[in-house]
Amino acid sequence: MRDYSNKADVLLGLQWGDEGKGKVVDILAERYDMASRFQGGPNAGHTLEFDGKKFVLHTIPSGIFRPQVLNLVGNGVVIDPAIFKQEIEELVAAGVDPLRNLFISKKAHLILPSHRALDAASEASKGKTKIGSTLKGIGPAYMDKTGRNGLRVGDILAPNFAERYQALLEKHQWLLRQYDFAYDIRDYQARWFEGIELLRQARVVDSENLVNQMLDQGKTVLAEGAQGTLLDIDFGTFPYVTSSNTISAGACTGLGVPPNRIGKVFGVFKAYTTRVGSGPFPTELFDDDGARIRRVGREVGATTGRDRRCGWLDLPALKYAVMVNGVTDLVMTKADVLSGFAQVKVAVEYHDGPDRLDNLPYDMNNTTALPVYRSFEPWSGDLGGLRRVEDFPAALRSYIDFIEQELQVPIRVVSLGPDRSQIVFT
Ligand code: GDP
Ligand code: IMO
Ligand code: MG
Repeated sequence: MRDYSNKADVLLGLQWGDEGKGKVVDILAERYDMASRFQGGPNAGHTLEFDGKKFVLHTIPSGIFRPQVLNLVGNGVVIDPAIFKQEIEELVAAGVDPLRNLFISKKAHLILPSHRALDAASEASKGKTKIGSTLKGIGPAYMDKTGRNGLRVGDILAPNFAERYQALLEKHQWLLRQYDFAYDIRDYQARWFEGIELLRQARVVDSENLVNQMLDQGKTVLAEGAQGTLLDIDFGTFPYVTSSNTISAGACTGLGVPPNRIGKVFGVFKAYTTRVGSGPFPTELFDDDGARIRRVGREVGATTGRDRRCGWLDLPALKYAVMVNGVTDLVMTKADVLSGFAQVKVAVEYHDGPDRLDNLPYDMNNTTALPVYRSFEPWSGDLGGLRRVEDFPAALRSYIDFIEQELQVPIRVVSLGPDRSQIVFT
């Protein structure tokens, strides 16, 4: 009989991204043999801070700073070789030897320079209804994957790669002519091909075999999600979403790990909510509280530098995220940012007129339903130095108890600052 008892754990975002996944993976990775990305691409920006240094990873898993951990970019990821090369160079400059412990799936799709042009052209043509994409070519690259046109990392090893690149480029050039959009990819293309050269030196493998072998051997694997549940292509606030499955099921298709081999699901959420780009955000704040969250929480996009929109925690949305992911362990970040507020609020229900909704509205973009808030006693003081739950302010403990009660899942980890050392296991 095959033994499926050793399972991979998944860590993912429960909101609209930027929940602090990178920081938490960096910490948890110490306990794992492998850290792997399963979806998304360089639209992600995962920030790690330690020893006074700060890094933002886009493609490479957040286990890369742990020398004993293998890192894998899975088949569900879309890779831009130019960005990949830049990331590798930054890591090398920081004294890390990233290619030593890094594997890349042959089946991961490539983002071409012309995918970026198509992304920009599509967004420009949408005007006010634009998605607010990071313009990294994510949507067009996944379209070519599902449309069965895309190029994969494994293809770079084939002798006819240049011709296949050219054929796909010409298809894109035809598509781009349908838009009234000026673009010039020549500089980027040169850097892109340098990235392809670097990829040829990397360990490009059939990674589904590697991951399953590791699990067979009793090794531990952590899968790192990008974006967040409300940006999921199926369950997010469509069409204001990204183009991949960000939920736990995405770890199965994005790594080749079967559902009966998924163990814990760590769901990361901020003590409040942020969103970058367009789309509905019912608990968004347009007042001083929102501005203060942005300032104190340094809520600026790690990939695009755009200001993040800020608002209160949305419990119905969080409940939904817990449900579709099967979250077993919650991780709460950034409660330190709310310290010293005059009031802390949480949306606890949605009401449409007098009616309380049992579920999130089907189309959050077009709904008359509104969140109903509950106020919590605020907490104060500098929380960044706290390392034990017993030392938390009572008001923060009540906040945590309430969320656990509502979600019926324990908060196992609390992050109270950007640094690696600022973490509390409950
Ligand atoms: P990710 O995309 O989920 O990895 O998150 P990002 O890196 O895009 O954004 C999270 C930001 O919050 C980064 O700047 C982190 O350094 C920072 N951060 C993470 N956890 C905490 C925390 O508990 N408190 C504070 N103040 N900052 C945090
Ligand atoms: P991490 O992994 C926050 C948002 C974009 C835009 C929408 C679609 O750092 O949490 P895309 O470039 O995918 O076509 O953009 O999704 N978005 C993110 N927002 N964090 C991310 O990643 C994001 N990746 C994409 O702002 O609204
Ligand atoms: Mg981010």
